[in-house]
Amino acid sequence: MAQIDEIAPDIYRISVLAPGLDMQFNHFLVRDDEPLLFHTGMRGMFAATSEALATLIDPASLRWISWSHFEVDECGALNDWLAIAPHATPVCGAVGALVNVNDFANRAPRALGEDDVLTTGTHRFRWVATPHLPHGWDAGMLFEERDRVLFCSDLFHQYGNVEPITRADVVGRYRDAIAAMQAHPVLMDYMPFTPATRARLEQLAALQPRLLAAMHGSSFAGDGAAALRAAADVMEELLGAPAVAG
Ligand SMILES: [Fe+2]
Ligand SMILES: [Fe+2]
Repeated sequence: MAQIDEIAPDIYRISVLAPGLDMQFNHFLVRDDEPLLFHTGMRGMFAATSEALATLIDPASLRWISWSHFEVDECGALNDWLAIAPHATPVCGAVGALVNVNDFANRAPRALGEDDVLTTGTHRFRWVATPHLPHGWDAGMLFEERDRVLFCSDLFHQYGNVEPITRADVVGRYRDAIAAMQAHPVLMDYMPFTPATRARLEQLAALQPRLLAAMHGSSFAGDGAAALRAAADVMEELLGAPAVAG
C-alpha cells in the first residue's frame, strides 16, 4: 500500500515500500493546472501507485510524466500511465528521447535540452542534464523553481521505511546506503564518480534547492547546496576507486 504525504505546496510524495529490499520507491505528483508525475514507478507497482494517485487527482487529467533516467523504477510503467492518461506527454532529456524513449514510449515525448523550462501552471520546472549522475547517459533532474524543489532521483538514496521529510543528516544516511551497495556482491558500483561528477553536483548546488526530493528515502528539507557539496565528498570517497573484491 502506498503512503501519501504533501512535502511542499501541491507536491505529493507517493511512497511504496519494497520490504524485500528495505527500500522506499517514491513517486511525486505535482498538482497543478497541468498535473505532472515524476517517476512512473515499476510496472509491478502500478496498481499501488495509480490507486494512490487517484485519491489526489483524476489520473486521466495527468498532463506530464517525467523521470531522470531509463530504468524500471524511473519509467518502467510509462506506457501503463499513458494508457489511462490520454492527454499525458512523456518528458525527458534530449538524450533519453533519442536513445530510448522515442522507440519505447507509446506516445512521443517532449525532449528537454539543457535548462529548458516546463510550466505547469503555478510551477516552473527547469531540466538539468546530468549525464552519469546518478547513473545513465540520459540522466537529468527537474528543478521546481517556485519552491526550490530538486527532484534528484537516486541521489541521497537511503534505506529503511523512513519519514517523508527529514532535516537530519541526510548525507550520513546516503553514505551508509552507498557503503551497503558497495559491499553488495551484485549491486556494487551502481553510481560512477567520474571526472565530471563534482562539477555536476556543484551545478545543482548553484540552484540552491530547499527541498531534495529523493526517490529512495526521505526528502531533505534544508540547505540543499551544502548537502550536494557534502555528497560530492562522500561519493568521491566511496565511489572514486573501484570496489574490487580482495
Ligand atoms: Fe537509477
Ligand atoms: Fe531509483
